[in-house]
Amino acid sequence: MEYYEIDGGIPLRGEYEVRGAKNAALPILAATLCKGGIHEIYGCPEIGDVHTMIEILRSLGAAVEWSGDCICVDSRFLTGTAVPPQLMSQLRSSVFLLGSLLARTEEAVICRPGGCRIGSRPIDIHIAGLQRLGFDVREEGELVAAAGRCRGGRIRLAYPSVGATENLMMAALSGSGYTVLENCAAEPEIEDLQGFLRSCGYRVYGAGTSCIHIEGGRGLHDAMYFIMGDRIETATYMMALAGTGGDGILTGTQSVYVSAVTEVLERMGAQIKNHEDRIQVTCRGRLKSPGTVITQPYPGFPTDCQPQLMSLVTCAEGTATIREEIFENRFTHKKDLMKMGANIETCGKNAIIKGVGSLRGCPVRALDLRGGAALVLAGLMAEGTSLVRGIEHIERGYEDFAGGIRKLGGNIEKKITETKKTDESADETADSDSGNRGGRSFSGITPV
Ligand code: UD1
Repeated sequence: MEYYEIDGGIPLRGEYEVRGAKNAALPILAATLCKGGIHEIYGCPEIGDVHTMIEILRSLGAAVEWSGDCICVDSRFLTGTAVPPQLMSQLRSSVFLLGSLLARTEEAVICRPGGCRIGSRPIDIHIAGLQRLGFDVREEGELVAAAGRCRGGRIRLAYPSVGATENLMMAALSGSGYTVLENCAAEPEIEDLQGFLRSCGYRVYGAGTSCIHIEGGRGLHDAMYFIMGDRIETATYMMALAGTGGDGILTGTQSVYVSAVTEVLERMGAQIKNHEDRIQVTCRGRLKSPGTVITQPYPGFPTDCQPQLMSLVTCAEGTATIREEIFENRFTHKKDLMKMGANIETCGKNAIIKGVGSLRGCPVRALDLRGGAALVLAGLMAEGTSLVRGIEHIERGYEDFAGGIRKLGGNIEKKITETKKTDESADETADSDSGNRGGRSFSGITPV
């Protein structure tokens, strides 16, 4: 079993180049199936979730090659329209295959990417949207089979779900109707998906606003596309710099996408200098409480940065309230932060954190991706040595996190230990972003 060993208390300094965005790479890789062709996607981060998405594409007949940061997908010859359940259960984003397979083959079978540790994460908005666009959707237990062509029309999402917006954008490419999606999520990664689809010759407009227009029809070209920098990775490193009293520069990213995080860090006393493609973070002295921070859909404070912010405020002067409005179970990092000396009380959606002078290093365990990143930040801020276990969660979403932190002068090593798997550790390593309800065969349902 691998873990990180961190000697905390060192202010981070230096320069780090942010990788391509996980949350753009995953839907775009799924979207390479929409138009059969040879697509080159540059800037792909080498993370666990991308490896799983590649396995899914291969299982459907695509030929995939990975060279440097470029993934080349040859999707001309597909052999299946059902995503294998064991792969579905490893990756929440496998749900995007519903939209991309419908766009290409007018049929798709997936397994519900069910339960997880940060919330229930249903896909009812995806399914209701498909039905309202004219697709025949059948659900049987954990399986969801959809078929047909988009008839177009104007539909309104019940909530601006990122995944449902992206899935419906892709599904709406099938047929020849004109679709208007209202109350869409406006996350920048949705604009990146639109950028890829337009590179293929599809007519999609409006992503990045709450209203997206899609003209059905076939794609025209093979695409070469460069993925945007990861704004969540950017924000994580910004918070690592601020939390350790450091001074560093992040390149390969755009400050406009992290403005909500910047505003909170400035309120806490960090100095942020924004340039077009790089961000400088400097912090001297103890951070101050930011007051109340509420997670919200973009452009609000991102839920994917809430755990890391909680680590920061544990040591800030004063009391802070963090309210998690997106996911109902996203304080999984609280227990270990308290083990390190933090003073945190939670009540429903709210966490009230009283700043303590310092944290002390100790063994902790990541239970999900961003909660794991938060524990690494806490380890960097703490006095003494921390061991962070469960790093497979962290490496699903951060490319070489330990290497990145080391580049900034942090004392972190990835180590391996031989550990007998106990019932407890087997339970705790359940994937946070993915369902564990897969495993049923497709025997009871055939692609329609
Ligand atoms: C995406 C991101 C994830 C981020 C999240 C919110 C990707 C690959 N993942 O996840 O990192 O944390 O946005 O910014 O881009 N909901 C429903 N029914 C649905 C769909 C969603 O009730 O059909 C609820 C969810 O349970 C959650 C909220 O809506 O409470 C937001 O979910 P959503 O925006 O869909 O997040 P994801 O696309 O899963």
